Amino acid sequence: MDQYAPRRARLLTSSRPLPDFDVVASSGPWLHCADGRRILDGSSGLLCLNVGQRSPAVFARIEQQFRRYSFGGAAVVRPDIQMELMDRLCRAVGRPEDFVALTTCGTLGVEVAVGLARNITRLRNGKRRGDILTSTLSYHGNSALTLALAGNHARRPRPQDALGLAPAFPAPYPPTHSHDGRACDVSCADEVALAIEARGAENVAAVLLEPVNGTTGGAYVPPEGYLRRVSEICREREVLVIHDEVLTGLWRTGTPLASDHWDGAEPDLCILSKGLGAGYTGVGAVLVSPEIATLLRHQDADPLPAMGTMAAHPLQAAACLGVLDELEAMDTGAFQARGKRLGAALRTLADSEHVRDVRGLGHLYGVEVTPGLFWPLMEAAEQRGAFFYPFTGAGHPRSEGLVVAPPLNSTDEDIEFLITALCGAVAALDDHR
Ligand SMILES: Cc1ncc(COP(=O)(O)O)c(C=O)c1O
Repeated sequence: MDQYAPRRARLLTSSRPLPDFDVVASSGPWLHCADGRRILDGSSGLLCLNVGQRSPAVFARIEQQFRRYSFGGAAVVRPDIQMELMDRLCRAVGRPEDFVALTTCGTLGVEVAVGLARNITRLRNGKRRGDILTSTLSYHGNSALTLALAGNHARRPRPQDALGLAPAFPAPYPPTHSHDGRACDVSCADEVALAIEARGAENVAAVLLEPVNGTTGGAYVPPEGYLRRVSEICREREVLVIHDEVLTGLWRTGTPLASDHWDGAEPDLCILSKGLGAGYTGVGAVLVSPEIATLLRHQDADPLPAMGTMAAHPLQAAACLGVLDELEAMDTGAFQARGKRLGAALRTLADSEHVRDVRGLGHLYGVEVTPGLFWPLMEAAEQRGAFFYPFTGAGHPRSEGLVVAPPLNSTDEDIEFLITALCGAVAALDDHR
């Protein structure tokens, strides 16, 4: 450990105060450590590993592609595998006619979506500025632009480094939007209208939001009717809606897209990433509805974004096809039911004096605890063999807790183990009173 620490410090990334796992093998949601311990990864490896570790289907696809050719670049080799991926993906998420831009990660997906949205609104509405409005509780990636746009206050750049950008409207969740005790509801969408009007609709290209909050606030679900109303408000003002489904897309919340939970909530553009690569590859996909995508081929359109050298790499596309093979072979009814059972079991934790709230959908939940307790909770869970992703999201003092998000193909026994470990860890918080 002592020899390890100085080298670890040279790796320039944030890290947690608990020891890392020294993983020597894995299977499904399980990590097998050098010291013989077995840890259930209840975070799906940063919310990616929707189909678990070491998928045979993903391996078979990568191997097949590797035998054909390993790299070419879309401008050199006919992009058949990328087109196969595009068709499969669009059908899988119920948007079969969408146009698609492929990128290497979620952040670049957001960047490309911003560029496309600006281009589209200008083509549609003539001279128009390209403002992108976001909420006060959001994360959209780690580039200079996406950090400056988003409302994750732990990661916001200093004001002088924020490119003059800031979130524009309060997210419809209690810690960021107060109503004198009243819960957030559909009327919170009026804040989006106010934000557009404050800028002048002619200055706004799009509203960018996570349809279900991910790790910033810990899996907040919007009030009934909220997303639909936001879409209506935007449409009335000719502003585009971009959904960042980097984290929630591809069944994480129980449906192909999180927006599928509500009627009338479909966005104009949608960004997918984590669940598509499922941890096997970096990837991002921007889906653009056909009504607006055709404008991008207009003679006055700005040039389309270059895909980037490593975007739509054939091995990346092969891995994604393997992930889609896995997802489509899954018994949807069974894993949706398992997700509901997980949610019901987690909600019983709210009876503990240490747990302030439990929220979420499908295989994505936030367990919010009394401030000061999330590291002890995480440590207690790890001692019981389960790992979860921490959030330190919103409000003053900040709400904090664990995001519970196991792989979608975890078995009933895996989920039972996870629940037992987390319930035991919450009970152990009595020692921290
Ligand atoms: C909602 C959301 N958007 C964008 C991103 C950025 O994706 P990436 O880390 O792949 O660049 C993330 C990553 O956590 C995310 O959760």
